[in-house]
Amino acid sequence: MEASNSARLDTLLKRGELIESMSEMTPDYLKELKHTLIVSGDTELISAPAYYLAAKKAPSVNAFMTGIAIIQDELAHAHIAYHILEELGESQEYLIFKRDPKDFRYPYAFDVPLESWTELVTANALYDQAGFNLLGDIHEQCSYGPWKRGLVKVMAEENFHLRNGRNWMKRISQAGGAAKDELQQAVDWMFPLTVEWFGLPDNLKQHSAQLDYRLKGLTNDQLRQAWLSTVVPFLDSIGINAPAHQEGNAWVLNYPFPSTFDADDKRWDFNDPCTWDDVLSRWRARGPRNAEMVALFQESFHKFQVRA
Ligand SMILES: [Fe+2]
Ligand SMILES: [Fe+2]
Repeated sequence: MEASNSARLDTLLKRGELIESMSEMTPDYLKELKHTLIVSGDTELISAPAYYLAAKKAPSVNAFMTGIAIIQDELAHAHIAYHILEELGESQEYLIFKRDPKDFRYPYAFDVPLESWTELVTANALYDQAGFNLLGDIHEQCSYGPWKRGLVKVMAEENFHLRNGRNWMKRISQAGGAAKDELQQAVDWMFPLTVEWFGLPDNLKQHSAQLDYRLKGLTNDQLRQAWLSTVVPFLDSIGINAPAHQEGNAWVLNYPFPSTFDADDKRWDFNDPCTWDDVLSRWRARGPRNAEMVALFQESFHKFQVRA
């Protein structure tokens, strides 16, 4: 029974066909699909409080409304992933409202507070670009039909987010002076955090089941290169320094990767290269804002439950 199910799944995947129901999956495919969905749902969900805490610093009512529209998009994106997880037998209520903050599986970058409008728009240009690269790859390759279709809407909206980030960054850079210095400082700490976002380099990462199951198509390093190839030329074009350059077809970082990061000071120590084990333990410990952000959406749920 198990063997024939696995052979059938193999054939569907090889033919490039879509999986539409749980009955077509093996337990291992289901496990990898759920894991991929949880990372995606958690990343979308946590970006809402992360962006909200910075959107409050918007320079105008219009800018604030754009910030809120983006946050609303992110919540809808999270809902797409959690809704699919619910259909696959998980509890949305548990995943969103009852999990321990440390069990959320989103990139470490979001744990470092965005504290100004400049940092928020830089996140839109750098972090949403990373989301765009990762989700674009899943959208193209994804073997699970319901998610592939759901991602059409997500991709269009992520494109709007990163355009908003780029427009604002350009405007701030053109203003020059202290505003431009603040923008450069934001890029200085956020750029390397986004480079890390794509995970272990290919030479250290063992074989990925997500690639076998067509839950993604590109490796970590390929995705990182894709991100660098759009972000570095953009930063150059607005007169902001990016710590990377092009050599032939490859983008090369101007600093040791990985390096040590001080989250409280938002400062990298490029004189102190570290190991990937050090990075993994920093990620596991989570950063300064993890518990505060999860509390933002969990507290009101618990209050409501007490009253109900
Ligand atoms: Fe999103
Ligand atoms: Fe976004």
